[in-house]
Amino acid sequence: MKILVTGGTGYIGSHTTVELIRAGHEVEILDNLFNSKIEVLDKIEKITGVKPKFYKVDLLDYPTTLDVLKNAGFEAVIHFAGMKAVGESVEKPLTYYENNIQGTVNLLKAMREAEVKKLVFSSSATVYGDKGADSARLVETMTTGVGVTNPYGWTKAMIEQIIKDVCVADPKFEATILRYFNPVGADKSGLIGEDPNGIPNNLMPIVTKVYQGKIDKLVIYGDDYETEDGSCERDFIHVTDLAKGHLAALEHSCPGVSIYNLGSGKATSVFEIVAAFEKLAGQELPKEIGARRAGDLAVVCANPALAWEKLGWKTELTIEDAIADTLRYLKNLE
Ligand code: UD1
Repeated sequence: MKILVTGGTGYIGSHTTVELIRAGHEVEILDNLFNSKIEVLDKIEKITGVKPKFYKVDLLDYPTTLDVLKNAGFEAVIHFAGMKAVGESVEKPLTYYENNIQGTVNLLKAMREAEVKKLVFSSSATVYGDKGADSARLVETMTTGVGVTNPYGWTKAMIEQIIKDVCVADPKFEATILRYFNPVGADKSGLIGEDPNGIPNNLMPIVTKVYQGKIDKLVIYGDDYETEDGSCERDFIHVTDLAKGHLAALEHSCPGVSIYNLGSGKATSVFEIVAAFEKLAGQELPKEIGARRAGDLAVVCANPALAWEKLGWKTELTIEDAIADTLRYLKNLE
């Protein structure tokens, strides 16, 4: 299949591009390089032997986006491009709504013009909002967009709705919405991984920056949750497993909207993650217990049964694999 990957130089986009090429697909990347580096293309070539054709294009630039799609013969688009920092989205809501939503609307318009009928969209478990005790076993049929706490999360929920409406208007349109849980790890080559510009927001990139000495210490946000060890529990998923979920989604694409959780179904606590990292890194990290972070839920975990049933996809790699691969990636950065 000839596939356009938007946001293909980013963390999840680059790993998905690698898996698509490994599976024999032809991939082209559209990215504005806002939060990624052009060098990723050379890394992809080193890993796969193929350097994807690249368009430095912002989805907010509709005419150029249309130029990329028109007459290129793409069979499918996998859409990752977007902004994803939760805290920043609270400070700059309009930037988030403009980039994520207008960007997606432009992409969908260009797809319509170019008659590209298959879409896989990068959504998030955040669309479920706070489901109380049920947050420990989230199922695709649950309501979304209720109790979402930040504009980033709202953009994901709103884009899901836009995609559903597009499918109603065009019965031939095939959309798969993938709700990611917490992606971690790096490609086993150690050549690509998570390398955010600026100060990271998520646990694993913060842990790696503490390990590298770039951040003084890790603050664990609360040890008084109603969980086994008092810290929050999340469903961490190796980015390579996540990337493979996109291949499965493409293979099973069908008219209308299909929605899948991509998670492991296993909750791991913050303390467990940190301990596993320290063990594999062979050193303790400077850390302290801090206050709870606003908006954090005690446990967030997928029920990934539907993806297994319909896509034949499940996670295969462990937290330890993810940490070992992250350490290999960090070593290569030195
Ligand atoms: C966060 C976002 C979610 C987004 C996801 C992926 C919030 C409330 N949720 O999920 O919308 O889809 O990232 O980008 O921001 N932790 C620490 N210390 C740190 C950082 C994190 O203890 O320095 C803890 C958090 O309290 C949390 C866990 O680690 O319990 C995971 O945090 P994080 O990586 O930010 O992911 P989520 O909060 O699950």
